[in-house]
Amino acid sequence: PHGKVTKVCCIGAGYVGGPTSAVMANKNPDLQVTVVDLSIKRIEAWKSDQLPIYEPGLLDAVKLARDGDGGRKPNLFFSTDVDTAVREAELILVSVNTPTKITGTGAGRASELSYFESAVRTIAEVATTDKIIVEKSTVPCRTAENMREILSAIGHPGVNFEILSNPEFLAEGTAIPDLMEPDRILIGSLNTAAGLSAAAALADVYAAWVPRENIITMNTFSSELAKLAANALLAQRISSINALSAVCEATGADIEEVSYAVGLDTRIGRKMLKASVGFGGSCFKKDVLSLAYISETLHLPEVAAYWRSVVDINEYQKDRFTKRIIQCLFNSLKNKKIAILGFAYKKDTGDTRESAAITVVESLVAEDAKLSIYDPRVEEEQVWSDLKQTHIGLPKMKENVTLCSSVYDACADSHAVIILTEWDDTSSGMPRMDWAHVASVMRRPMFVFDGRNVVDKSKLEDLGFRVECIGKPGSASFRERGSVPSGRKSSQEGSPV
Ligand code: UDX
Ligand code: UDX
Ligand code: ADP
Repeated sequence: PHGKVTKVCCIGAGYVGGPTSAVMANKNPDLQVTVVDLSIKRIEAWKSDQLPIYEPGLLDAVKLARDGDGGRKPNLFFSTDVDTAVREAELILVSVNTPTKITGTGAGRASELSYFESAVRTIAEVATTDKIIVEKSTVPCRTAENMREILSAIGHPGVNFEILSNPEFLAEGTAIPDLMEPDRILIGSLNTAAGLSAAAALADVYAAWVPRENIITMNTFSSELAKLAANALLAQRISSINALSAVCEATGADIEEVSYAVGLDTRIGRKMLKASVGFGGSCFKKDVLSLAYISETLHLPEVAAYWRSVVDINEYQKDRFTKRIIQCLFNSLKNKKIAILGFAYKKDTGDTRESAAITVVESLVAEDAKLSIYDPRVEEEQVWSDLKQTHIGLPKMKENVTLCSSVYDACADSHAVIILTEWDDTSSGMPRMDWAHVASVMRRPMFVFDGRNVVDKSKLEDLGFRVECIGKPGSASFRERGSVPSGRKSSQEGSPV
């Protein structure tokens, strides 16, 4: 049986590994947690006060465990010495990236497991004592089974490995509260004495702060599939509401009113029903496509097509939004200056992976628009690296795109303002935006395209803006009909801008 865990090693110091380890160390002062990564730059950043990722509350959580405080001894360490940390730990969390494959079989759909496999191979090669290996990264169903095969083939004789699935459900921007008070901790294991005992050892680590009844156990396959299923169902809700937003725009219904009304049904619930320019982030598209690909390999083409449609609607939503912009701007964007507010895939993160902004910018630059982008958290270097990977390429992007350090610089002289991220914290500059001032520096006619439904539409219309929101008829069409909607408050909290 597995005894009490005293040392944990987390392989992968990214969006999942970093915050998870910080909270685990915080809540278990007697546990030694070492986070390792191949990237020297990333590890150095974790040791400094300029963490490699932005996440509200993260720096405080890291500092407390990493630097110690008063009676508290430091118990969170960052290192590039993967082998030593692996050798010493009884429990190893694997939280490396598992992006979508870019070449070979399943390219563009299947998950790339090479980083994951390479981490597992490292463990097998250096481990001289028994290890509990925890899949934290999101992986296709049956990965644990495959890894068991590798471990038994190359592990040192006499060393026992137990593989658990323990998917992470945190969302970026709310990682710390999500980790502190998770809806559930899910642990999948083999239904053998050794498997159950490993699961119990991991459960004990979480029990330091998570109520026992919220720590659930099941077989490894179910646990792996549950993570994909959770992301697929969340993404599906957004695609469903976005598909309905298209119907709203065509009929005069208001998606926020529809969302409010359906969300009150407790069977449906209010969350993840906010219509937008489209979902982004490193997980939704990747995991839905992975689920579709798995279904295909299991000879379930109808199931694969069903899930793929969730991603198709998301692409359609982004495309619909840009087409609307082009049409409203009289079908010609050539040399028109347009402000892009927000480049991250959601607020409170500097992450841009799969951000709708990348697609929108690509389509607008293809029309030869001149864009000025403002985002309070995204590094300039990151924006260029994302734009470089589009079909347009860096030279033309550099010619057409300017990165601005203030909202007003971005808006000056522009024909239109496009909101792509729902930034609302006070440091971002966007919520306190002085729209009267923006109006005084823009060209006429002035357009606002709100991809997040955060502006006060009637207030902006009073200032002379023509406002186009998601899932609502545009200003002009209502003017034509001579009826302005009452703009009743909807289900979604806060209209910060
Ligand atoms: C439904 C809506 O629930 C109700 O709000 C609306 O006014 C009318 O349509 P109803 O069709 O009477 O009501 O029953 P419901 O309990 O929703 O079940 C509909 C079907 O879905 C049934 O065949 C039921 O067996 C099935 N179902 C329901 C499932 O297969 N799984 C579920 O989790 C729930
Ligand atoms: C998601 C899951 O929420 C999390 O449980 C999982 O572990 C990882 O994937 P994340 O991608 O960080 O987390 O953020 P999330 O808040 O789910 O948002 C994803 C995307 O959907 C964002 O682009 C967001 O703007 C968009 N979104 C979200 C909507 O468009 N409408 C909504 O109602 C909610
Ligand atoms: P996620 O969003 O899933 O946390 P990230 O890309 O933010 O993904 O982080 C994954 C981290 O894992 C990266 O910093 C990467 O350098 C690291 N990594 C990948 N493979 C290995 C490996 N074999 N050993 C150590 N670190 C690894």
